[in-house]
Amino acid sequence: MAAAGGGGVRGCPALPLANGRSIPVLGLGTSHQGGYSHDAVVHALQKCGIRHIDTAKRYGCESLLQKAIKESSVKREDLWITTKLWHSDYGYENTKKACLESCERLGVEYLDLYLIHWPDAHVLGKSNREVRAETWRAMEELYDKGLCRSIGVSNFLISHLEQLKEDCMITPHVNQVEYHPFQRPQELVDYCRTRDIVFEGYCPLAKGEALTHPTIIQLAKKYGRTPAQICIRWSIQNGIVTIPKSTKAERIQENFKVFDFTIAEDDIEILNGMHDGRHVSWDPSLIV
Ligand SMILES: NC(=O)c1ccc[n+]([C@@H]2O[C@H](COP(=O)([O-])OP(=O)(O)OC[C@H]3O[C@@H](n4cnc5c(N)ncnc54)[C@H](OP(=O)(O)O)[C@@H]3O)[C@@H](O)[C@H]2O)c1
Repeated sequence: MAAAGGGGVRGCPALPLANGRSIPVLGLGTSHQGGYSHDAVVHALQKCGIRHIDTAKRYGCESLLQKAIKESSVKREDLWITTKLWHSDYGYENTKKACLESCERLGVEYLDLYLIHWPDAHVLGKSNREVRAETWRAMEELYDKGLCRSIGVSNFLISHLEQLKEDCMITPHVNQVEYHPFQRPQELVDYCRTRDIVFEGYCPLAKGEALTHPTIIQLAKKYGRTPAQICIRWSIQNGIVTIPKSTKAERIQENFKVFDFTIAEDDIEILNGMHDGRHVSWDPSLIV
């Protein structure tokens, strides 16, 4: 991992993508679940040096983020902004329109990363595979035009990626999938690595569920850290782009203070052994 440039979080490395760009390994999540806090986002940008923000049309906060980014005075070129295409906009023409609308709501001229949010297309009379393929064709065009500097998918399993491989020209740069101590889909991580797809993990705290687990509490005590810092540091040491969400300034500060300690290999193995297959978000395994 190379150190991220610019004035971002001290010590935050960036992971290289197949297209030569680099994504900061730690970013701030936003979502409709649990609310949105303008003050927390401004604090994250101004006081914590956070430069990577993850959002989605689905979360309904793209225009709120525009306000927070403006207020923070952080320059566009110093930010990494990811947003996602919701299934109501899948299809070739809709995708291109939805991307422009997301850019407009965010107040930006380009996206650093645009993701197909979910593999299920919900289009009557067309297979999911067909819709994903035509949607991806639009994503490739958005990438070629420079409107999206990187493109990827989210919640895609190996089967979905294998189909897309046959149907597309550009391999997704990123796959964003649920990843925390209870959900460590190693086969998918390995598959992505062999294809040069960067694995990004969401819900790194298992929506807070992991923070009360005795093993995590014990490791937090051992390292003099908080349970959230143990989960985030573990994910990063496993080479995963990690995007915890909080609506509280002090927790955001805590969640980004993870570059001044290292979890020993045997403790990483203990955390790796906690996988029990549970999802705290969506389970895409039934989507064909
Ligand atoms: N691609 C997808 O389909 C998908 C799906 C889900 C999520 N995501 C992305 O991943 C991001 C993170 O996921 P998530 O928000 O679902 O789960 P998460 O980051 O695992 O957990 C967030 C929860 O933990 C609490 N929390 C945060 N920091 C804490 C700390 N230091 N101590 C105690 N509690 C803490 C938050 O509450 P407070 O706000 O009260 O601090 C919130 O309830 C989302 O914001 C979104 O960007 C993507």
